[in-house]
Amino acid sequence: MLSPANLSDYAAAAEARLEPGAWAYLAGGAGDEITLRENRAAFDRLRLNTRLLASMAGASTATRLFGLDLPHPFLLAPIAYQRLFHPLGEIATAQAASALGTPMLVSTLASVPMEEVAGVLGRGPGWFQLYIQHDRDFTLNLVKRAEQAGFAAIVVTADAPVNGVRDRERRMGFALPPGIGAANLAGLPPASPSEGLLGGALAAVPVWEDLARLREATRLPLLLKGVMTPGDAAKAMALGCDGIIVSNHGGRVLDTMPAAIEALPPIAEAVAGRVPVLLDSGVRRGTDVLKALAFGASAVLLGRPYIQGLAVGGAMGVAHVIRLLADELAVAMALTGCATVPEIDRGVIFG
Ligand SMILES: Cc1cc2nc3c(=O)[nH]c(=O)nc-3n(C[C@H](O)[C@H](O)[C@H](O)COP(=O)(O)O)c2cc1C
Repeated sequence: MLSPANLSDYAAAAEARLEPGAWAYLAGGAGDEITLRENRAAFDRLRLNTRLLASMAGASTATRLFGLDLPHPFLLAPIAYQRLFHPLGEIATAQAASALGTPMLVSTLASVPMEEVAGVLGRGPGWFQLYIQHDRDFTLNLVKRAEQAGFAAIVVTADAPVNGVRDRERRMGFALPPGIGAANLAGLPPASPSEGLLGGALAAVPVWEDLARLREATRLPLLLKGVMTPGDAAKAMALGCDGIIVSNHGGRVLDTMPAAIEALPPIAEAVAGRVPVLLDSGVRRGTDVLKALAFGASAVLLGRPYIQGLAVGGAMGVAHVIRLLADELAVAMALTGCATVPEIDRGVIFG
């Protein structure tokens, strides 16, 4: 195969390599995949301005987030069950993340225990992504484990209290293969069965009071992931969240939601710089990172593309994906006259 030149090349190479069921799980979106496509289409519709003859002295993609110095304004989004895509799973991702200094968000549904991933991350930055479990004591224990393992922030994902309707997976009859599961949830008591739609799952969905309790339970920075409206961003801040992640979960949960990049400007306006706003869903190019920062994001998360790198080349594949995106961002910054991350502003967007 020719050497992958961009993140889409990794998508094609990963599709050729993965089991069709695993590919359907990774690539698919909810329903008619309208939101999945819109995440890309909305980035593609945005046009950029050049700004000529700007000085590039001291040019850098470096940024600071929650006291961490990052080499570039992007992080690796939490993605479940990474051993579906490579035998080493989250371990290989952590190797790449720590080598390049890119923060890795480790999922509650990781296929390797969080402590093992943290061991590989070492001093490399790691955040823990929390899915609030029906057993709230078990949930608080996950937070304690994350603190003890050295994770630097807790990200509560609130947009997927139930799985989206994902037709691609259902057509393939996708199920986790034996030996791959949610390693962090070993020992979780089963949810009590109840009547009605989706059984016990709905009775125990997380609510705002759960977020308030988590705020009391940890001193780590607490971020809420899945925010798509200014009203929810305001509630999260009122409860003491330290950051907001604008995301529609990569189009995997509620179909016909707007693109994340379209939801960002009013949210950034409402937050008004009080806490960092991050964004994911559809980031595939350095110009996408630039556009999100121009609309007020402090950083973005990268989802499927680094997993496609993992599937193709393990840790080296993840590292190459990170490098490709970082290099594209540097070029986009130079061509729009932004020497540093704080210089990226609305002026780079045409119209
Ligand atoms: C296969 C897969 C598994 C995911 N697992 C999780 C998860 O465990 N926790 C979570 O908060 N988000 C999860 N997400 C959502 C991602 O964190 C992120 O929001 C999304 O992938 C970003 O969109 P992108 O893939 O277009 O970059 C998952 C996404 C995919 C594709």
